[in-house]
This record gives sequence, C-alpha cells and structure tokens, in this order.
Amino acid sequence: MKRDGFDAWVLDAQAAVEAALEAWVPADTPAGLGQAMRYGVLDGGKRLRPLLVLAACEAVHGERAAALRAGVAVELIHAYSLVHDDMPCMDNDVLRRGKPTVHVQFGEAQAMLAGDAMQALAFEVLTPDPGPDGVAPALQARLCALLARSAGHAGMAGGQAIDLASIGVALDETALRDMHRRKTGALLQASVLMGAACGPTDARAWDALARYGAAIGLAFQVVDDILDVTQASETLGKTAGKDAHHDKPTYVSLMGLDAARRHALELRDEARAALDRSGLPDTSRLALLADRVVERES
Ligand code: IPE
Ligand code: IPE
Ligand code: MG
Ligand code: MG
Ligand code: MG
Repeated sequence: MKRDGFDAWVLDAQAAVEAALEAWVPADTPAGLGQAMRYGVLDGGKRLRPLLVLAACEAVHGERAAALRAGVAVELIHAYSLVHDDMPCMDNDVLRRGKPTVHVQFGEAQAMLAGDAMQALAFEVLTPDPGPDGVAPALQARLCALLARSAGHAGMAGGQAIDLASIGVALDETALRDMHRRKTGALLQASVLMGAACGPTDARAWDALARYGAAIGLAFQVVDDILDVTQASETLGKTAGKDAHHDKPTYVSLMGLDAARRHALELRDEARAALDRSGLPDTSRLALLADRVVERES
C-alpha cells in the first residue's frame, strides 16, 4: 500500500472515531461531570488504539460497526488512564494533549470521577441493545473480556501500580519489559485483538496478530520513553523530561538512547514478521501502523 493512500485512510478513520466519541461522550450530566469527560476525551490524541482496531478488523474482513464501538471503548479506557496518570497522586502532570490536565482544569475529585465514568462508558458502548447496528451477544462478551483483561490488574492498572512502586528503582530488562507490557502494551495488543474478534480468524492468524500487538505495544512505550528525552513539551503536548525528573526506570535509563532506538526498530521488525506469518492476505495497514509507532515524533 502506498503511503499517501494510507495517510488518507488514517484521516478518514480518525474522523469516524472522533464523530463516534463526540456522539457517545455526554455533555448533559449532573454537576458538570460530562464537561470534564468531554475535555479529557475529545479534541486531542493520535487515536492510535482505535486505528489498530479498525485496521485489524479490515484485515479479517470483520464488522465495521462493531469495530468502531470497540475503537471508541478502548480510546475511552486509554483517556481515563491518562486522566488518572496525570493526577498529583500519580505522575503529577499539568499538561496533556496541549492543554492543562483534567485535574488542573476541573479539580482532583472531578478528574477521578471523570476517569471512573469513562471506564464505565467504555463497557456501555460495547454492549448495545439489540437493534439495527447491534452487535451479536457473543461478540459483545468477547470484546468486553478482551478489554477488561487488558485494562485491569493484569494489564494497564497493574502496570501502573508497578510503575509507581518502581520510582528510584533500577529495574533490569526483564522487569522493565514486564511493566511496559502491562501498563501500555496490554491495551494496544487488546486493540488489535478486538479488531480481529470482529471477523473470522483461524488460530494461526489470531496468534500472529497477538504477537504483532505485543511487539508494537512494547515498542510504543519504548518510544514514549525516548520521546520524553528527545522532544520538547510543545511537540509532545505533555511535559518533556519528566521520567528522569521523577527518577522512573525507562528503556533510556536502562540501555541509553541509541540502544533504546535500536530496540524499538527490532520490535517493529518483529511485529511486521508476525504479520507475514498470519496467512492474512492484506495486512498492509497494520504494517504501516507499526512503522508509525516507531517513527512518530509525538
Ligand atoms: C500516551 O499515549 C500514554 C502512553 C501510554 C505512553 P499516547 O501517546 O497514545 O497519547 P495520545 O492518546 O496520543 O494523547
Ligand atoms: C503512561 O505512561 C501509561 C498509562 C497507562 C497512562 P507514562 O506515564 O509514561 O505516559 P505519559 O508519558 O504521561 O503520557
Ligand atoms: Mg505514568
Ligand atoms: Mg505520565
Ligand atoms: Mg511517558
């Protein structure tokens, strides 16, 4: 696939996700909670996780309506994780997606509740009543299970707990990889698998997509560690240099910038090799998304 065709596909998919998020995240809720939710979710973010859902769904010729719901759901979990990640009790950050963080804008209690409500909304989006754009009950259950497992104690939340327990601790590569796989990789891998669940897959394709998702999931956080050191806050839309400031173990602190960059490229190659083994006829969008994960500058 040519890059310009891919870029147009990304813009279209991002617009579809934006419109779906706009429709789903409520404004009209008690005591301004919806305003805080909309502030944290809309108008910002690369929407990489929904793009992975949609690209994986297309690779298996799956149901787009179900995949769009899955993309919205995973983005809601991701946005909630960012709102909580930025709170003073976690990373204590004041800038996110180029704006003051949710707790700076709305207060800590409202930020906590906005995150809680985004998490609940994610599962509401995945479980529509029967109807014209309905999702079969078995698929609803599968999507909920994939998302719940990746977001909870064994995935994102568990990884975030390890992250906070590791401040000032020099983790070895095995422990660092485990933390990054949980806190960031799990949700990215789940995005790929949720997209794949929207269509038919055999064991070979499922396993290959799981490996692809694991490799880009880890690569994504390795690159996040790199960008924290190499980019300015204005480019990132979030505070640069904060990992060293908070004495967090990262791939850069473990192996240095050059080796971290090489490792990200190795993981990208691993992801692409998994796609080649999938037996699926067209995985070009997933391959180009893997490139985007390692080539991004914000
Ligand atoms: C940032 O994720 C947090 C991590 C998991 C490293 P993204 O870089 O995908 O953030 P947005 O959604 O584009 O703002
Ligand atoms: C965040 O990791 C992972 C999450 C689950 C939110 P970071 O703390 O490095 O993310 P940024 O750099 O603040 O976006
Ligand atoms: Mg953090
Ligand atoms: Mg953070
Ligand atoms: Mg970071």
